[in-house]
Amino acid sequence: MILRASLLHAVGEGPLEARLEGWSDGGLFIENGRIADAGPFAEVRARHPGAKVRRLEGGLLLPGFVDAHVHYPQTGVIGALGLDLLDWLEQVTLPAEARFADEAYARREARTFLRALVRSGTTRALVFGSHFAPAQAALFEEAATLGFPLTSGLATGDRNLRGELHTTPERAYEENRALIERFHGKNGLRYAVTPRFALSASEALLEVSGALLRAHPDLHFQTHLNENPREIEAVARLFPTARDYLDVYDRYGLVGPRAVFAHDVHPNPRELERLAASAAWVAHCPSSNTFLGSGLFPMRAHLAAGARFALGTDVGAGTRFSLLGEAMDAYKTQRVREDGVNLSAAALLWLATRAGAAALGQADEAGGLEAGKSADLVWLRPLPNSTLEAVLNHAESVERALGALFALAREAEVAAVWIRGRPVYERGMLQAE
Ligand code: GUN
Ligand code: ZN
Repeated sequence: MILRASLLHAVGEGPLEARLEGWSDGGLFIENGRIADAGPFAEVRARHPGAKVRRLEGGLLLPGFVDAHVHYPQTGVIGALGLDLLDWLEQVTLPAEARFADEAYARREARTFLRALVRSGTTRALVFGSHFAPAQAALFEEAATLGFPLTSGLATGDRNLRGELHTTPERAYEENRALIERFHGKNGLRYAVTPRFALSASEALLEVSGALLRAHPDLHFQTHLNENPREIEAVARLFPTARDYLDVYDRYGLVGPRAVFAHDVHPNPRELERLAASAAWVAHCPSSNTFLGSGLFPMRAHLAAGARFALGTDVGAGTRFSLLGEAMDAYKTQRVREDGVNLSAAALLWLATRAGAAALGQADEAGGLEAGKSADLVWLRPLPNSTLEAVLNHAESVERALGALFALAREAEVAAVWIRGRPVYERGMLQAE
């Protein structure tokens, strides 16, 4: 099949080097779930004269978005105003997550969550899991059914949460081991060891997390880091011999190229250097950081140190599933920081696609429209008579058109989504249903 559309992706080594590449009348030849050829439509057509053509009129066809940090059990808590991180966890979010003890409820929520991802144009994600193993299994099963290439893992904590959410190091090891065996590397699913944060982990639980990574070197790792000043102080009290927050994880072998640390709003220079040297990733979650009042991400300091970052929506502290909105929030928070980075439209697209794919260890697989990549695609198209349509009619360049999409396009403008060449969503209907 050939998709004929206006095609655009971001290329380059980082957000500051990112450039746009594409064809206003482009063709993507898709075979066995992969992009087998890309270029001007006439040329692609000539090379594959027998292929069926589907024409996507209007809008832009982009690589699917990659969310580097989003919570499965938090769809229902989006928009709980008025609290900072620790109060929000205690009063709103941990009680909501306790309901995932009910497996049938969790399975319904898993479907809702995955639908919300694809309908927002997200085609890959690193997902923070539930504290309950059956709920986590339900998420993996539903992702496999939908064909969603999910990376996720059981959230673990053995102190400072609610009793119902607490595990023990022994149970955490056994439940992780069983989930890894059942799901990791199957149906496009990947496993990430997921201690919730240092504040809810004993030394023994962190030790277990490190042991799992040593036993299975191709696993991923995710947790939270340096989000909120009160949280950081509490972690320092809990781990008085650690040099800083990152060092707590480092002592257990948890800092490396397959690790993604959410937030890092308040790092010290040593931590930035260590993140860079270990080639670890940060998930920058600007809507959450402003929503909870956590702070404004020091992007320039990350860039200067060589610490890599991608974008995470961090739903439910984040306020929606759309990486378009998240990228716009990243842009705006940099505008209001005195030392803020002036991000281009190409940089935003790079962050929403290529950076996330790299953070998930899938840089060769996703994030762009090159031949050989998985055919993960999002078609953004303005609604008739919408503000976005009016702005796009005036756009003088592709950068301006893309800027308008980041400013105005959200779920409703996602017209269709393909994952690994399979249509998983068309506006108004979800194929998997
Ligand atoms: N730190 C520990 N748990 C959470 C969570 O659920 N959301 C956010 N934003 N930070 C956390
Ligand atoms: Zn989070």
